[in-house]
Amino acid sequence: MIEFQTKQHLEESLCNRMSEIIVSAIKEKGVAKILLSGGGTPKDLYRKLSLCHLEWSKVIIGLVDERFVSIDSEFSNEKMIAQILLQNVAKDANLYGMVQNIKDYTENLKSVNKSYQKLIDSDIVLLGMGTDGHTASIFPEDQSSRECILDVTPKIRNTNAPNDPKKRISLNKPFISNSKHIFLMITGDNKRNVFIQANTEKYPIHCFKDEVSEVYFTSN
Ligand code: 6PG
Repeated sequence: MIEFQTKQHLEESLCNRMSEIIVSAIKEKGVAKILLSGGGTPKDLYRKLSLCHLEWSKVIIGLVDERFVSIDSEFSNEKMIAQILLQNVAKDANLYGMVQNIKDYTENLKSVNKSYQKLIDSDIVLLGMGTDGHTASIFPEDQSSRECILDVTPKIRNTNAPNDPKKRISLNKPFISNSKHIFLMITGDNKRNVFIQANTEKYPIHCFKDEVSEVYFTSN
């Protein structure tokens, strides 16, 4: 766990780390693929990233998870990332959302699984964590989330959250594990305690402890 004095320091460091990886992926393969979480915690990080002078047109961005809501909803992760990250110098990045057919949850999943094939070998996954120990949209006490952990091949699943919006869409564990770098960003002592005590499978984050390459933490 890398601990920072302030959230701003954390964001600067993580922003630099992600930029370095993006630059070297583009140099190596001509493209960088990154998978980003929603929620409130990473918003200022995305603002900082949007100001980084990278070859954004060569960056493919996918989501770690999404709420099954229309993309103009205040709950949409796609909307948040489009508004906050895809601005300034990052406006030319390519963002692939997870809500492609709002009329049909099952058909939507088929379509997302197809379009996310290109993101299976990503360079970066940025995870967050809830105070109930969920990560991505892999929740405690949910059968579909359990399957996300038990799966052996990368795929996207429809899962169920305990709170609204309940219908979720999430990368499964193999999809996340396949990434070259897996970062977890958490803030606040409460989340630190959840992470440290998450030693049972009741807390989905427990199943990712070995996969996460770096935990970025600040208590502020
Ligand atoms: C989401 C997420 C989710 C998030 C945690 C933490 O769409 O909600 O991707 O996994 O990272 O719920 O959320 P906060 O950052 O808002 O605490």
